[in-house]
Amino acid sequence: MKDTYILGIESSCDETSVSIVKNGTEEIATVISSQIDIHKDYGGVVPEIASRQHVKNVTMVLEECMSKANMKIEDVDAIAITYGPGLIGSLLIGLETAKTLAFVYNKPLIPVHHIAGHIYANSLVKEMQFPLLAVVVSGGHTELIEMPKHYQFDKLGGTLDDAIGECYDKVARVIGLEYPGGPKIDKLAKQGKPTYQLPVPLKDDSYNFSFSGLKSAVINLAHNEEQRGNKIREADLATSFQTVAVEAIVSKVRKAIINKNIKYVILAGGVAANQGLREAMTNLANELKVELTIPPMKYCTDNATMIAAAGYYAYLDGRRADLTLNSKSQDELK
Ligand code: KG4
Ligand code: ZN
Repeated sequence: MKDTYILGIESSCDETSVSIVKNGTEEIATVISSQIDIHKDYGGVVPEIASRQHVKNVTMVLEECMSKANMKIEDVDAIAITYGPGLIGSLLIGLETAKTLAFVYNKPLIPVHHIAGHIYANSLVKEMQFPLLAVVVSGGHTELIEMPKHYQFDKLGGTLDDAIGECYDKVARVIGLEYPGGPKIDKLAKQGKPTYQLPVPLKDDSYNFSFSGLKSAVINLAHNEEQRGNKIREADLATSFQTVAVEAIVSKVRKAIINKNIKYVILAGGVAANQGLREAMTNLANELKVELTIPPMKYCTDNATMIAAAGYYAYLDGRRADLTLNSKSQDELK
């Protein structure tokens, strides 16, 4: 069979990335330009600055990717683009780039939901087997999704308020760590003991999550200690928080695996980089004898390789967009 090359573009937040993936499973080339150093001075991503940076970066990133791959745009079979969800100004820069390429080179345009991208980061690791359970944990999403086959997403549950990554970043801010705080909490959590009492969120029978209560508990605890003139034991707070946050996710995953008789689980999204979660998921998979795939660190946070991989399966599924495609800051995965 003829090989299929998908060019992927991702610009939903603060990474400008272009990649080429062969047959949905093999990365040919990728370039990621991160804006973290610019946004960390503000304690988080500033949307206006992010979109202006994408404008500056996108042509260079595209040219560098093509030269790394030693390919021309004419050689690719389709252009896959993250149309949403994300920061609207950021999304638009990638989208207009993709539309221009699709128009000028007469290539199919494949719309990719950002979370489908995170899920398909796993197809770079191993061929996906179905039915599977996708555990999506990112800065904007916390969801359990059952997939009976390629490119079919049945949501079992999700967060009722904050996403797990958002909660990590907020807690990090309270402790005084720089943006993005998630990885820094993860590192600190290895050094402490879970000595602070924090509430375990949403212990119910649903597949939903809730992290705002946990977030508020950490903020209140920090303020109370400050008012009493006590210094927070940062590592202990990081460990206490991570223990509870990871347990909140793993307990719902356990329930889904047992109730739905799942045999194959994948972890997806930026928080899949979390060592505590990776370990807890690995232990759970061993205990319940299910197969688990976790993307390598480079495919956990935002990148265009995962968009090109998802784009390949969306392409096989017959999904196409025309030049009226618009960005969406919010959209359900379907
Ligand atoms: O998937 P992603 O790159 O962007 C979204 O689609 O939202 O995820 C970014 C999120 C941020 O909240 C970041 O703090 C978190 O993932 N993150 C982590 C770790 N690495 C990234 N959270 C906890 N532990 C980590 N090691
Ligand atoms: Zn993401």
